[in-house]
Amino acid sequence: MAEFKEISPDAPVGAKLLNWVDNRFPASELYKQHISEYYAPKNFNFWYVFGSLALLILVIQIVTGIFLTMNYKPDAALAFGSVEYIMRDVPWGWLIRYMHSTGASAFFIVVYLHMFRGLMYGSYRKPRELIWIFGCAIFLALMAEAFMGYLLPWGQMSYWGAQVIVNLFSAIPFIGPDLALLIRGDFVVGDATLNRFFAFHVIAVPLVLLGLVVAHLIALHEVGSNNPDGVEIKAHKDAKGNPLDGIPFHPYYTVHDIFAVSVFLMIFTAVIFFAPEAGGYFLEYNNFIPADSLKTPLHIAPVWYFTPFYSMLRAITGEMMYALVACVAAAAAFTVLKGRVAALLKGAIALAALLLIAAMMVTDAKFWGVVAMGGAVVILFFLPWLDNSEVKSIRYRPDWHKYLYAVFVINFIVLGYLGIKPPSPVNERVSQIGTLFYFGFFLLMPWWSRLGKFKPVPDRVTFAAH
Ligand code: HEM
Repeated sequence: MAEFKEISPDAPVGAKLLNWVDNRFPASELYKQHISEYYAPKNFNFWYVFGSLALLILVIQIVTGIFLTMNYKPDAALAFGSVEYIMRDVPWGWLIRYMHSTGASAFFIVVYLHMFRGLMYGSYRKPRELIWIFGCAIFLALMAEAFMGYLLPWGQMSYWGAQVIVNLFSAIPFIGPDLALLIRGDFVVGDATLNRFFAFHVIAVPLVLLGLVVAHLIALHEVGSNNPDGVEIKAHKDAKGNPLDGIPFHPYYTVHDIFAVSVFLMIFTAVIFFAPEAGGYFLEYNNFIPADSLKTPLHIAPVWYFTPFYSMLRAITGEMMYALVACVAAAAAFTVLKGRVAALLKGAIALAALLLIAAMMVTDAKFWGVVAMGGAVVILFFLPWLDNSEVKSIRYRPDWHKYLYAVFVINFIVLGYLGIKPPSPVNERVSQIGTLFYFGFFLLMPWWSRLGKFKPVPDRVTFAAH
């Protein structure tokens, strides 16, 4: 137990109260450690506001979610009507609902930008691997949260979107059909599905998300923040042991973040008040029609934030399987012929490749589509071990690395766009190329990230007072 701290009887009441608390709970200690004496690099830029914005949106989603739950009915016969009731009759219900629905899209915009920042500055590399891994787990949880939340208004898109996605699980060999049944709780999406998705959406997944965010921040504060130069500020400390290139989070970055929050809230409220459906992207028009199990909408598309992954799912057709088999065979042949690995390992690789190719030939392409869709997220977890570049930040990498990152982003947006559109032969071909590029970017990273002429990394961060 820490030593009991005495305080003068003449001290102000506030100070006495804080002293009383501090002797029982490390309030001041935590405040210092994580806020007033958390030294963050002084060269943070615009890209460093998205973590705080993600935290803000998390709070907005939880608070608006609680108020929505007060009037929402998780019952297939009542759900749609209860959302209309919230929109029309509950005082300020429309605002709460639009904040929550717009918040979902805002969450993904902010998190995608936050992840891209990590990719640009190599924030996932040693010693920050766990921050990244917790981040990837957050991303997965967020996807699950959004997917299950989308069923709750019980509109046509809620219903058919869930039907399509849950059915995908049945493509898994052996356990698939039983797994899909377990998720739905019925042979089709129905009341049982709505009830369990409600339970997961309002309590189970939010708890996991909160726990993961806490773990994410504890890991961040353990090793300290990276910065746009990718230079470790802890390498140069002053006499007190504080990093020379660090500044206390409060007040310097609280002000920085408050500014970002103000700009964010202006955009967020503008969308809520003037375009809450965002042209059908944030709230799909078909979802204003009650769920009807007898009427399948002509075109079923997930909400925009899932569409890049949905495109990858649709890209894996029977024809595409030949291209994938060729990729596996080429990779195995290259390793066996050119790889500097033991002969025994080469044999094992050749055998594994043969088995994989056999499995790819006999299983339905739909299953590999599911593998591609899941694999596109899972591969992110391995990023810290895929990148072999000699520097962290994009600033000091060869210029062509920057172009490659730009193509990666454009490709991701194109995949997203194609995922919204109805299938067509051209869209299919483009999404297949896009899928190969997405996986090629990551799987070949151990090789390409080492290539090119790197620029000298400065010893200290670059910073111009402004
Ligand atoms: C609910 C979602 C999330 C919240 C609330 C959150 C919160 C934060 C905060 C507050 C920071 C410090 C400020 C900053 O660097 O921007 C941070 C840093 C970081 N986050 Fe997240 N984050 C979330 C999701 C993610 C995801 C999905 C990833 C990646 C897959 C990720 C990866 C990182 C990394 C690598 C850092 C360290 C960045 C650096 O020091 O350069 N985060 N996060």
